[in-house]
Amino acid sequence: MTQSSTVKGKFISFEGIDGAGKSTHIAFVAEWLGAHGKTVVSSREPGGTTVGEKLRDLLLHEKMHLETEALLMFASRREHIAQVIAPGLARGDWVVSDRFTDASFAYQGGGRGLDRSKMEALEQWVHPTLQPNLTLLFDVPLAVARARLDATRTLDKFEQEQADFFEACRTEYLRRAAQFPERIVVVDSTQSIDAIRAQLAAILEKLL
Ligand code: TMP
Repeated sequence: MTQSSTVKGKFISFEGIDGAGKSTHIAFVAEWLGAHGKTVVSSREPGGTTVGEKLRDLLLHEKMHLETEALLMFASRREHIAQVIAPGLARGDWVVSDRFTDASFAYQGGGRGLDRSKMEALEQWVHPTLQPNLTLLFDVPLAVARARLDATRTLDKFEQEQADFFEACRTEYLRRAAQFPERIVVVDSTQSIDAIRAQLAAILEKLL
């Protein structure tokens, strides 16, 4: 962990390609932490603040240059850190975020093909010392993820992408998991919900 000594709380991020099933498990983790006496702040990216949610709306529905997309993801993140993550950690809360910077590497880097050095520069600018204490990467084969997308609602800009886009996102996520094994835990999201919950509880026990 590379956080300043003023940080008292813990920061957990959740990642995975669309349809990997992370939403169900975020609620479980928040509940589990609450039951273990922690004050939990649940949030998401892009979004999590008034400005961030407006940026989310643009990002999920408007076509734009891939560098604009990367910059707006980090703009939303900057606001999220300032308004939610840093104050929460300073209070000693546990901040649980549905996505963080690994998603930019996976989607804008892997999926869209933006050079990794661009993301590294933005990361260095926006959060040079802050990293999640733990990142849970929910991993599933692409066919499983696609089948899980709710066909009854309108899919957003990312969800409408083709299989090769998501394969590239998944590959980049797994590459990062191999690069940062002390932070990123890969959870096989094809397991039953009960099996995943048991695994999550064991991981969280170690972080308490
Ligand atoms: P969600 O559907 O998990 O809420 O995430 C919204 C979409 O935004 C999802 O398709 C992934 C994408 N995204 C990026 O492309 N880059 C990012 O940095 C983040 C945080 C999300």
